[in-house]
Amino acid sequence: MNNLIETISKNNKLCNLVQKDNFVGWVFSIDYENALIMTNDEWKSNVRGIPHNSFLIATSLDTEKFATTQEIDKEVILLRVTNSCKLPQDDDMIKTRIDNYQNQQQVEDLPNQQDYDILTKNKMQFSGLECRVLGTFYLKNENLYLGSDIENYSTALKMKVYMPDGESLQEIVNYVDPIRKEKFKEDFKELGITKDVDPFRIGTVRYTSTDRLHRSDLNDLIPFSIQPSDFLARRTAVLGMTRTGKSNMIKQTVSVVKQVSEECTLDIGQIIYDINGEYANANDQDKGSIAEIYKDDCIRYRSVKTEGFKPLLNNFYTQLEEGHSIICDCIREKYGSSGAADLNLFMNSISFDKPPEGNKGETVRWNQKVALYKTLLYAAKFSAPSNYKVYFEANKDIRRLVNPDVDPKDGLTLYESKIWFTNLRRISQEIKKEITDIARNKKSKEERKYNPTDADIIDHWITEECRIMLNMLCMRNDSDGYFNGYKAITEAQKYHSFERDSDVREEIYNSLCEGKIVIIDLSVGNALIRERISKDIAEYIFNQSMKIFTEGKKPKNIVIYIEEAHNLIGKNMELTNTWPRIAKEGAKYRIGLVYATQEVSSIHPNILANTENWFVSHLNSEKEIKELAKFYDFGDFSQSLLKSQDIGFTRVKTLSSPFVIPIQIDKFDPSNFVKGVKNE
Ligand SMILES: Nc1ncnc2c1ncn2[C@@H]1O[C@H](COP(=O)(O)OP(=O)(O)OP(=O)(O)O)[C@@H](O)[C@H]1O
Ligand SMILES: [Mg+2]
Repeated sequence: MNNLIETISKNNKLCNLVQKDNFVGWVFSIDYENALIMTNDEWKSNVRGIPHNSFLIATSLDTEKFATTQEIDKEVILLRVTNSCKLPQDDDMIKTRIDNYQNQQQVEDLPNQQDYDILTKNKMQFSGLECRVLGTFYLKNENLYLGSDIENYSTALKMKVYMPDGESLQEIVNYVDPIRKEKFKEDFKELGITKDVDPFRIGTVRYTSTDRLHRSDLNDLIPFSIQPSDFLARRTAVLGMTRTGKSNMIKQTVSVVKQVSEECTLDIGQIIYDINGEYANANDQDKGSIAEIYKDDCIRYRSVKTEGFKPLLNNFYTQLEEGHSIICDCIREKYGSSGAADLNLFMNSISFDKPPEGNKGETVRWNQKVALYKTLLYAAKFSAPSNYKVYFEANKDIRRLVNPDVDPKDGLTLYESKIWFTNLRRISQEIKKEITDIARNKKSKEERKYNPTDADIIDHWITEECRIMLNMLCMRNDSDGYFNGYKAITEAQKYHSFERDSDVREEIYNSLCEGKIVIIDLSVGNALIRERISKDIAEYIFNQSMKIFTEGKKPKNIVIYIEEAHNLIGKNMELTNTWPRIAKEGAKYRIGLVYATQEVSSIHPNILANTENWFVSHLNSEKEIKELAKFYDFGDFSQSLLKSQDIGFTRVKTLSSPFVIPIQIDKFDPSNFVKGVKNE
């Protein structure tokens, strides 16, 4: 019979939480929010101290008599130590203690002299702790559930308090409720994962900066694991002061996601915006960079040509809109609005939007415009092979005027097209001048070189956009006055590479869809292009995935990692901008976002409010702590976050954990993530 009771209680997940040897006191007051506990130096010493923020459990349950326990008592309340509290006797005890010190004859203690009587000594050891109620564990269909509050409390009840460690603590910190577990399975199925994916260890429980007692032994380290499903199509914030382990955490996350992707043979693309080049390149402090560890699955990009990196540069001859925007940025940066009128028009009136298919007239015009634009690039020394040709239609009349022996439809090299367009402008100017001269009687009609209809032919051919670019090509405005023309765009040359034959954004998106890790190394190159290209890539990813979604198909899973996030999803940003949109709506299109910053308060509140996972290390200002305390139970950690600056000491709230858990994050170790070997 006794054996039977023992087996029952062993399988009883609720009873397993209660470790009798870890008794630390009694609850002497409780309400829905807080519990006050009376503890004792000796009991505390038995469990090697009760650190601030540690978990305690309180119950009136006798685990050996579970079957006969009243239904109302079959629960365990989870508490977090938030403060000390005064016992009513404390003042008397202080008085006794002071009296004792005052009666002492010598400063140095003499054995058995002026000490307390046993009864006083015993009483003196008691002290009070204030705890926050985190929830109630109970059984339902033999499954362990955790409600996030107390359903009922009885003040007359004798509730014992225990300090959980070992398996009990492991169960508490890694608890995920059964309904949520089922939901994850469904979510995973939705994401294309049918296999069960085990949680991944990322660290061990750590209550306080001083961890001499509660983490002295390897066996004391209670592993904390994260559910991989928490990170796909979710938002994750990694917050903390510099050098407190944010990037380390991101490396862990990248590896966890990679592992899931490999285990489930599911393509999950990851793109890291690497501001400091720490993911793309190995450094002395850390073992291996992400790029080194995942050599075969990682593609690195840089905005300047470097071996081992793909170029972020665009081919301006093929990425017309992209190239034009970069050119405009450069002109704006150099001249502001004080450039020549034609330069301003070049920035504001020229568009390379493709005409609708089937519209022959517009397509012909578009080809002419593009040929002229490429000629302008050539003039400004944007490199291109010498046999590169442009093709466009020019009707008989215009050919007669410019050069009857050449038909641009058959292709002109850029050199030839420069001559062709220069001639076109010269003739246009000559015709205009001839008309004016005749009108002013400076020239007789008989002397005219051009037909009266030639002006119309030219006018019809040279559109407004053409006129602007012709002027730039010839460095002359409409009145033939000099301006710097194509020279104004030479600045953008360094962002051009003819080698690139596809849109870099498209190439990156395709790699992500194949489950690759793409690292954009932003540590080198010009700030202007970095910012622009970063945004463009993000925008492209968002738009493509949205497009696939709206077509009723399933976009691939992508996780985006950004650092210094306050610059991208700052609080004053419009939610319609690219980055805030990704943060806000990305989840719908299976885009997860992991963002790191030191400044909680400068992140857009709407995005903070939508963040599912939080990793917070040391913050150094009350302002940031106050902002953070608005979320979940981070308020409990205000003091600890402000004071302890230990690297990797992180307060974690994930989607699946019901409360904040203080963790020492493991240092990223590539060997834990070697292909095919699972982290424990
Ligand atoms: N959990 C950890 N355990 C041990 N060492 C760590 C841990 N996390 C980070 N480190 C080490 O501390 C240093 C700083 O970490 P990391 O670069 O991750 O900080 P950071 O918060 O990203 O800093 P920054 O704000 O400068 O980007 C690194 O050398 C790293 O290897
Ligand atoms: Mg960092």
